[in-house]
Amino acid sequence: MPLKSKTTGRLISFEGSEGSGKSTQLSRLAAHLQKTGREVVSTREPGGTEIGEQIRNIIVHNSKGDEMCAETELLLFTAARAQVVREVIAPALTRGAVVLTDRYLDSSTVYQGIGRNLAADPVAQVNRFAVGNVMPDLTIVIDVPTEVSLARIRQRASDLPDRMERENIDFYKKIREGYLLLARGLPDRFAVFDGTLGEDALEKKIWATVKERLG
Ligand code: TYD
Repeated sequence: MPLKSKTTGRLISFEGSEGSGKSTQLSRLAAHLQKTGREVVSTREPGGTEIGEQIRNIIVHNSKGDEMCAETELLLFTAARAQVVREVIAPALTRGAVVLTDRYLDSSTVYQGIGRNLAADPVAQVNRFAVGNVMPDLTIVIDVPTEVSLARIRQRASDLPDRMERENIDFYKKIREGYLLLARGLPDRFAVFDGTLGEDALEKKIWATVKERLG
């Protein structure tokens, strides 16, 4: 399906390791934006659509998940992305909404490319195929030391850690470094925040940056 250009809508993606606090900050930013009277649409990856939630289940909760090869993982994440772009994100942008997404294409670049050592070129190509021309206007990376993010994952009250969360510390170090590297290479699109600042301070900094960068 061809995707129309974005008109006045704006797309902001949140990225970072598990336990970085991005979901909390996404909700807080959504509240600020709603007060301006703009339509705000929040979504998450993998998921955000019925098909995406089913794909998410296969990836993170399938008991046989450990047998999944990295290539399959990439294609499943990007399949969920292709769906949410066409079903949710692109229509919202065409209406002029601000769309906030909890993870987007950079998660595949970092987790499957850098984390799972898949070659950068095919990852970029599949990502491009999935998103078409729907690129983020701003990508917010919440950076926390790996030890902090692992401690937060362990503290989560929910059930057993999922498949991605069972990865070892070296994997998470690669993820953290991967985001920082990506952000350094694309300073116009990325803004990196210190995730150890405390929720309120972080909220203020993110809101100030969004106003400054997106007007
Ligand atoms: P989720 O429970 O939604 O985690 P989080 O709250 O940390 O975002 O699970 C998403 C997991 O999938 C997370 O470990 C990151 C991983 N992931 C990838 O490896 N590649 C991707 O393209 C995406 C979108 C997520």
